[in-house]
Amino acid sequence: MKSISKSFMTLMAVAMMLSCERCSGEAPYNGARPASEPVSALKEAPFPFGAAVTPALLYDNAQYATVVKRELNSLTGENAMKMDMISKGYGLYDWTGGDRVAQFARDNGMRIHGHTLVWYRSLPNWWMDNFSGDRDAWIALLTTYITDVVTHFKAQGVTSWDVVNEAFEDDGSWRHCVWYDNIGQDYMDIAFQTAHAADPDALLFYNDYGMEYSAAKRVAICNEMKAMLGRGIPIDGIGLQMHVNVNTPKYDMVAALDAAAELNLKIHISELDVAVNDINRPDPTLTFTDELKEKQKTAYKSMVEAYRALPSDLQFGITLWGVHDAQAWLAPNPDWPLPFDKDFNKKLAYDGIIEALERK
Ligand code: XIL
Repeated sequence: MKSISKSFMTLMAVAMMLSCERCSGEAPYNGARPASEPVSALKEAPFPFGAAVTPALLYDNAQYATVVKRELNSLTGENAMKMDMISKGYGLYDWTGGDRVAQFARDNGMRIHGHTLVWYRSLPNWWMDNFSGDRDAWIALLTTYITDVVTHFKAQGVTSWDVVNEAFEDDGSWRHCVWYDNIGQDYMDIAFQTAHAADPDALLFYNDYGMEYSAAKRVAICNEMKAMLGRGIPIDGIGLQMHVNVNTPKYDMVAALDAAAELNLKIHISELDVAVNDINRPDPTLTFTDELKEKQKTAYKSMVEAYRALPSDLQFGITLWGVHDAQAWLAPNPDWPLPFDKDFNKKLAYDGIIEALERK
């Protein structure tokens, strides 16, 4: 009896030490591997680590597939599950690309995150040219699409979705787009309710960029998320795209993450890359100097450190927007925004992530 109570006291002392660590603002290490062991792949992070991928590269580029399998445990289709890739007519679908991504993920035991059901871009030509109708007709178009797509990909193993992407402008106003203009603000509520009805188990996310640099956008999005939760809309998480650059300060990253954490929703860093060039006014003559490589490493490290400081139950994971520099969406700027170079070598940026993951 005495020895039991002694070990109980020891346990209590350890628990108190751990909770003090939390009080200091630093979340204790919550990963599957002991914090003292070196991290040898991104997927050894204490949360899923993924990337946006392209079906052709997964199947036709052996080096790409090798890196994806070695490093990642979560996949998002970069474009394969967008509306223009899938919707070929009213109730007519091409699932080829999305299915190939899902198949690869299933074959390799990876999570599959769906991106994205409703966006103002990637709209299919067939209805941009031919579709017209009143509000009810637009709602029917939206709900038919969401129901069919979520139902199809549930069977393919998709367990979470970006339901609405980029509904707000940087000044915090609603973005005018086909959905907003034809249905009104509640296209958001309708989209989440429809997705939930089609797959009640799927985790549903609102996804956007710019919450790190625009306080107005941050406030507008958080207010809308709170209002949606208040209305009982089934929303589980918020995706922060985090298309940042080498000059993005850590406090901007923290501001976005903290605002999202206050909502008590799951947080997905959903499209992480660290641009070297200016995304809006790129310099065509820019080169990737050693100084820029170091700055990029620091930015990646800061991001992962800031993410790790979140409560572990809110950490849905980090997704890179691509795997290697050669295929990055920003590559033509020119740019080198990812942790692997054009030949799939690990960059300093990769080391920055690993250092942040190894910190106790
Ligand atoms: C981008 C893709 O990376 C490009 O290949 C495509 O041409 C356009 O879309 N925010 C998003 C992503 O939510 O879907 C975008 O992806 C990048 C910005």
